[in-house]
Amino acid sequence: MTGWPRTDLCDLLGIEHPIIQAPMAGATTPAVAVAVSNAGGLGSLGCAAKTPDQVREDVAALQDGANHAFNINFFVHDVPEPNAEDEAAMQQRLAPYYAELGLGEAPTARSMYPIFGEEMLEVVTKLTPPVVSFHFGLPDRAIIEGLKSVGTVILASATTVREAIVLEAGGVDAIIAQGLEAGGHRGTFLGDIGSGNIGTFALVPQVADAVKLPVIAAGGVADGRAIAAAFALGASGVQMGTAFLACPEMQMHPLHRELLLKTLGEETQVTRSISGRPARAIVNRYITEMSESGAEPLAFPLQYSVVGSLNVASRKNNSTDLMVMWAGQGAALSKVLPAGELLTKLAEDAQAVLARM
Ligand SMILES: Cc1cc2nc3c(=O)[nH]c(=O)nc-3n(C[C@H](O)[C@H](O)[C@H](O)COP(=O)(O)O)c2cc1C
Repeated sequence: MTGWPRTDLCDLLGIEHPIIQAPMAGATTPAVAVAVSNAGGLGSLGCAAKTPDQVREDVAALQDGANHAFNINFFVHDVPEPNAEDEAAMQQRLAPYYAELGLGEAPTARSMYPIFGEEMLEVVTKLTPPVVSFHFGLPDRAIIEGLKSVGTVILASATTVREAIVLEAGGVDAIIAQGLEAGGHRGTFLGDIGSGNIGTFALVPQVADAVKLPVIAAGGVADGRAIAAAFALGASGVQMGTAFLACPEMQMHPLHRELLLKTLGEETQVTRSISGRPARAIVNRYITEMSESGAEPLAFPLQYSVVGSLNVASRKNNSTDLMVMWAGQGAALSKVLPAGELLTKLAEDAQAVLARM
């Protein structure tokens, strides 16, 4: 195998292949991250919805299983005060779905993601994970310094050039440039949360010009061709979520996996109707009807807390109508392969493309 055109990211993370399997809260498992890390990439675990005890347990599993670096990921967000009037309007909008599924009344809005604060910092600092990544901005500088002081490498997502510059000044070690094609939540944290709408092809070279740190291309990178293209755009590596979603080690509903493989790029959509933040998912009845109704979602993550039970019930009932099915525009390029095999295939395919060029 030939080498990679740029190795600064591999050197920083201590990995062989500059491919990060994205952290995906609710989907990633320690098993998938271990498989990717042991195949030479960077396996990641989404910890946004986990309690400190769950984080401890999962990191122990990663430390036991992975013989290379791994990454754990957290959200950085405020907890908004619920507004009674908005909440009542949303509960009313969702009432027909709750009735249809026999779930009674829509629940009260609450925050369902723990804040990355003192308690989690203490837990994570003691665990000394090799890599921690953040989505929706960065925690306080003291937290970043605390993590770096135990040797943890810090990554964070930017959806605009301005955000990348802010992250560099904030002390991160590498920047994930997340284009609009990406599945799941947009990482936008400056200005209007709906404003970071730049495609990967335009974003990556501009971020690479604007910062000195290694840049990781994310969003629509779903096969070896796109990994090779990311290097041409100035990236030092890629973060791939959707491409890994169909791996058997992922926690995925079988119908979500089945649909993912036949979803065309135009059949995904960025919507705020699921969580309150813009996020890309496979279009289904819920997204279509919420969009047509013009209902204003509650602020993140309150909206998710009133929608979540519909997802849980849909999964149980084997119906995709109201299921949450995050996916990026590259969905149909996903492969049902064990994660370690997929990592090896992606690395080989990308290197073959690079060699041909
Ligand atoms: C199912 C799913 C869940 C995601 N959850 C998270 C998450 O918990 N934390 C995070 O930083 N990014 C999350 N993302 C975004 C990814 O980190 C990454 O930016 C994205 O997957 C890249 O685009 P791609 O899906 O086209 O590969 C998620 C993406 C998907 C598809």
